[in-house]
Amino acid sequence: MKNFCFLLCLVIVSCQQSKVQNKVAEQIAAPSDPHSYSRPEQALVKHLDLQLNVNFGSKTIDGKAEWQIDNPAKADTIVFDTRQLKIIKVTVGDAQKRASFNLSKEDPVLGQALKVKIDSTVKKVTIWYRTSPDAYALQWLNPAQTAGKKHPFLFTQSQAILARTWIPCQDSPGIRFTYNAAVKVPGSLLALMSAENPQQLSADGKYTFKQSNPIPAYLMALAVGNIRFKAIDARTGVYAEPQTLEKAAYEFADMGKMVNAAESLYGPYRWGRYDVLVPPPSFPFGGMENPMLTFATPTVLAGDRSLVSLIAHELAHSWSGNLVTNATWNDFWLNEGFTTYIERRIIEAVYGKEEAAMQIVLGARYLNETIERMGNQRDLTRLKLDLKGKDPDDGMNDIAYEKGFFFLKTVENAVGREEFDAFLKAYFEQNAFKSITTERFISYLDRNLLSRQPKLRADIKTGDWVYKAGLPSNMPVVSSEKLDKVDTLVNGLSKGVKFSDIKKQISSLNEKVYFIKSLPDSITAQQMKDIDRLFAFTESTNSEIQFEWYMLALKHDYKAAHPYIEKFISSVGRRKFVIPLYTQMASTPQGKLWAARIYAKARPGYHPVAYQTIDEILK
Ligand code: BES
Ligand code: ZN
Repeated sequence: MKNFCFLLCLVIVSCQQSKVQNKVAEQIAAPSDPHSYSRPEQALVKHLDLQLNVNFGSKTIDGKAEWQIDNPAKADTIVFDTRQLKIIKVTVGDAQKRASFNLSKEDPVLGQALKVKIDSTVKKVTIWYRTSPDAYALQWLNPAQTAGKKHPFLFTQSQAILARTWIPCQDSPGIRFTYNAAVKVPGSLLALMSAENPQQLSADGKYTFKQSNPIPAYLMALAVGNIRFKAIDARTGVYAEPQTLEKAAYEFADMGKMVNAAESLYGPYRWGRYDVLVPPPSFPFGGMENPMLTFATPTVLAGDRSLVSLIAHELAHSWSGNLVTNATWNDFWLNEGFTTYIERRIIEAVYGKEEAAMQIVLGARYLNETIERMGNQRDLTRLKLDLKGKDPDDGMNDIAYEKGFFFLKTVENAVGREEFDAFLKAYFEQNAFKSITTERFISYLDRNLLSRQPKLRADIKTGDWVYKAGLPSNMPVVSSEKLDKVDTLVNGLSKGVKFSDIKKQISSLNEKVYFIKSLPDSITAQQMKDIDRLFAFTESTNSEIQFEWYMLALKHDYKAAHPYIEKFISSVGRRKFVIPLYTQMASTPQGKLWAARIYAKARPGYHPVAYQTIDEILK
């Protein structure tokens, strides 16, 4: 019997492996991206010279995109992605000869293919265009929606497939290009991009930019507003409205240390400066890793540096994501799982083992919750995704981050930290400025780390982690001293431990968040009131505490928090907070009416990628 089982296992393992190998072959032969119309194997962009004229009055950008291209296949057409763009004219060559082009029928997710006729001698294609006032990548803020209330603000969010709504481009993470840009904005405003940036206002509203590393289109970024710069050290600094600048500089004072820590683990930082822009609170994400200039939500300006792991995360993308990039959005975990792993290594290096351990334990908790919640969408709990025909934004969730993290942690635990660190460093070095599929990563891992150690390879179960839904049997067990203590206290609640005892014993943000998340489902509104009297969670100004507490308040109908919830979701546009809160509110008929009332006023303040989702929740 034992032997039979063993044989069966062998058969299963080898099937699994040959499946993996077939997939590898398939991907190398045709690395096609289901979310881009471009045909890079025919004709491919190499460099962009971009001219932009930003008009706040009409909420439009007039653009001229001059693309240098490669056409090794001597193709007669080059294909670009566009969406919501008005194409004015297209020319080829330095002499700007009119080219014939056509736009395909509009797809609700992918937009329109722009097909331009070329011949084998064409090295340059120039596109004149105008963006739409409701371009999905752009948020145009009125002065009232900014901290200073006097000047308008514009920012972009291109990931995953929205770059095409402000630049006609080959919008696939597998295609990279360098760029220069010349941007004209109203005088007195500063313009910034994912490139070498000005530190001072220009007299005439004209700015030039240079990105000399090849990047994919989803890392194209622009921000325009009443923005000032403050240096942190020689290579790091913050940009923000004057009202927010000092607070941001205080909060992110450790940025330089973080860059140093990351470099000593994974090799040189290849991008020159590392700066952070803090846009107004409607920014729809926590952070966005735009090269040389991370965009970071003001909801992490807690005043006590308790939420700076977000900076560690976006900085980590300078290796995982921006240097070595997921080839398609089906490989998203290669960006976010690696980045979550590196983020926690940076946190450990700068703030110590226990801080990292707490974040890892919380991560495991979020992962379990996500997997439970996604019971009916098990496909989306795999690392390798199949998002063909779907909007990539709908397929991206905690899985890529946390399951990706725990897979890498499993490899680290098996091979030992020293060896894993050396492996990762070499991986970034050897694949720098390349895009990579899951299958190629797996074969790289195998060749460079696991093939010498068959026993470890069997322990790690790469195939289970990457291709199977849910969590593998070898999910690492993790713990943190401080959070174990919180567990003990919360478990003691039924045996005489009082909330006031807990109050005396927990102080850090992670402990508080974990405490809120650990409260039993049976908790009553009266008990919430007792907790609130001790901890003042309802009035907290720490966005992570606010979020967890307000979710609990909605679940347990703790009405004292309602005005604060209203204020929170009316002033913050970060998807991670507002989407679960609206969803929870919409789960009762009465709550849905309340949510709709708030939303009617708040919607104009949200970025398109936030309001599109909330429209669906409340429709
Ligand atoms: N690159 C992501 C943001 C993103 C992902 C935008 C997918 C569009 C599509 C960024 O690095 C990120 O992961 N941000 C997180 C913060 C992080 C600390 C987990 C966020 O915004 O919450
Ligand atoms: Zn990320």
